[in-house]
Amino acid sequence: DVIEVSALTGNGYFTYDPGFVSTAACESKITYIDGDKGVLLHGGYPIEQLAEHSDYLETCYLLLYGALPDAEQKDKFVSKVRMHTMVNDQMSTFFKGFRRDAHPMAIMCGVVGALSAFYHDSLDIKDEKHREISAIRLIAKMPTLAAMTYKYTIGQPFMYPQNHLSYSENFLHMMFGNPCEQDKVNPVLAKAMDKVFLLHADHEQNASTSTVRLAGSTGANPFACISAGIAALWGPSHGGANEAVLDMLSEIGDASRIDEFVARAKDKDDPFRLMGFGHRVYKNFDPRAKVMKQAADEVLAELGLENDPLLAIAKRLEQIALEDQYFIDRKLYPNVDFYSGIILKAIGIPTSMFTVIFALGRTPGWIAHWNEMISGSYRIGRPRQLYTGPAQRDFVPLDKR
Ligand code: ACO
Repeated sequence: DVIEVSALTGNGYFTYDPGFVSTAACESKITYIDGDKGVLLHGGYPIEQLAEHSDYLETCYLLLYGALPDAEQKDKFVSKVRMHTMVNDQMSTFFKGFRRDAHPMAIMCGVVGALSAFYHDSLDIKDEKHREISAIRLIAKMPTLAAMTYKYTIGQPFMYPQNHLSYSENFLHMMFGNPCEQDKVNPVLAKAMDKVFLLHADHEQNASTSTVRLAGSTGANPFACISAGIAALWGPSHGGANEAVLDMLSEIGDASRIDEFVARAKDKDDPFRLMGFGHRVYKNFDPRAKVMKQAADEVLAELGLENDPLLAIAKRLEQIALEDQYFIDRKLYPNVDFYSGIILKAIGIPTSMFTVIFALGRTPGWIAHWNEMISGSYRIGRPRQLYTGPAQRDFVPLDKR
């Protein structure tokens, strides 16, 4: 059938690969994944080592520039990010157009895309310096916009960024701080937050990054491209899974109902899936999930939440799935979203903000891929299709149909 259609279109052969399971769309030097062995490297460095010895902003630098910074380069990069944490004051007017009960991801799609209305120099994508400043702007402003989104949805005043704080401390300050008080951010929670961001920083050609590249291949500006990435991330099969995990745990409600939900996940007539399990590429334990699980244990211990009923359901579910033949046969392991949801809930971040946190963490990956593409040679992304509609036929006037 494929050959027949190719012949019809006169364009020779093309591959038909739904879901791009075995099609590479680009070359990239940024991130390497071996899904069978459970390996993830950024710039050649294992994610476990980065999570233990590096921090989020240093990993951002690695993704953007392809090498770890020396002390001076790191200082310079961190201060550049600090200099750009504010957003234009007119942004607050922009927020007012949204309903207070809007989903935070709906607001994020809008406000991140709207940055292109404020930084005209960033629209010049041919200039390397302009691309660099766009990357810095995005990394610096995402926490501010994410926290503004949260504050808007709960009707509280926006918090200004505090640039003496670290990236993660500042984010937690803008999320939970009180403008009338000098807030102290719990260092254990700030460290866990930094790890959540770092573990989400990049994951090669996933759906949202591919979306950013595809949008970017038309020459669209970086803010528009990242907004497209945020839209792609929102779905429950991708970044929306961390929110879906917590919704699922609430729906299960009690450990006595776990078996019922596991049975539903195995039932092919039931569309229900166990959220937070399975991955397109990892057919082994996701290395990020291992680190995230350890971070989750540390946060729960710090907050004395080891006996939280929802988290107890999560632990039991994880154990059952790891022992169940259905999950073993299909190599369905708990993924990074399973544990990140647990950490975020423990920190006090509302479920509807979970995917926003993922978007924030993934921003350096998106912008690094966009920049890698634009700075090399590329063609507009234009997949083909396998046409299955009617053959050519003559138009029938309305009175003859
Ligand atoms: N629960 C139950 N069964 C599952 C699950 C699950 N979570 N995931 C996959 N399966 C089953 C499928 O039904 C299929 O079974 P079959 O072979 O008997 O038909 C088999 O495992 C393979 O599944 P596919 O859908 O072919 O796998 P694919 O690679 O297309 O999907 C995905 C991967 C989307 C992540 C899927 O596992 C899923 O929906 N998981 C739940 C959502 C989730 O956690 N997403 C987060 C992904 S990680 C991230 O974005 C950072």
